[in-house]
Amino acid sequence: MSALSRHALIIGNSDGIGLHSTRRLLDRGWQVTGVSRRASPVGHDGYQHHVLDVSQRDYVEKLRAILGQGPVDTCIYCAGIGGPPDPNDLGSEVHVFEVNLMGALRTAQAIVPAMVAAGRGHLVVLSSQADALVLADFPSYAASKAALSSYFEGLGLALRPHGVAVSNLRFGFVDTKMARAAVRPFMYTLDQAVDQVELVLRKRPLRLTRPLSMAVLVRLLACLARWRVFFTRGPAS
Ligand SMILES: NC(=O)c1ccc[n+]([C@@H]2O[C@H](COP(=O)([O-])OP(=O)(O)OC[C@H]3O[C@@H](n4cnc5c(N)ncnc54)[C@H](OP(=O)(O)O)[C@@H]3O)[C@@H](O)[C@H]2O)c1
Repeated sequence: MSALSRHALIIGNSDGIGLHSTRRLLDRGWQVTGVSRRASPVGHDGYQHHVLDVSQRDYVEKLRAILGQGPVDTCIYCAGIGGPPDPNDLGSEVHVFEVNLMGALRTAQAIVPAMVAAGRGHLVVLSSQADALVLADFPSYAASKAALSSYFEGLGLALRPHGVAVSNLRFGFVDTKMARAAVRPFMYTLDQAVDQVELVLRKRPLRLTRPLSMAVLVRLLACLARWRVFFTRGPAS
């Protein structure tokens, strides 16, 4: 298939990695359809934007209506949020799961049947190396990414015989507004991150973890977190 005929759906692309990936694919001659809650800064003949919220009830119907009958070649799920929990109101924690996990599942619900019918297609989800951690500051972020990674790697194995590829791309820190930690070791620039997105589109691995230097640090932090969980007792009653 020529690069010019390829069509990517990018969910969560008004900013950050999704926006940078959109621009890169348009430069490469792809057609891109983007989805986010805000309008897009991208103006290009090969680009269409739809203002949609992945956490809304009618998201699947609206996405199906946008796409029509045919399959997209590639879908990259970039929508993601995270933040510290408010002990007085855990509603924002629920919302993190709605966007990071359920939005990705609903996207798959809308697009995978057409891919399976066509016997081709590639679904990429942007998870995080935080999927291996237990984080007191961002528990919903880490847990939603753990579920995202586990589910989509399983789905990738299930869809392989149907000709559909799934890739789970696990970044460490990438220089966007989401990377708010005080210390951000081994942080990728947006260009470096999108180089990895392109690598995933070419090679279609089930899992890609980058940067590997961060993966070593995460292993260490995961061990410390396991010890902390093991030895922590609740406050005295
Ligand atoms: N940056 C990092 O350090 C890092 C590291 C590892 C993994 N990741 C993952 O990479 C992905 C992209 O992150 P990023 O750094 O590019 O974040 P970002 O700059 O904050 O961009 C997030 C995108 O998600 C969209 N979004 C959020 N809620 C949405 C909703 N309800 N419906 C539709 N779109 C929604 C936002 O658009 P609107 O606000 O317009 O809706 C925005 O375009 C996320 O899944 C993140 O977890 C990031």
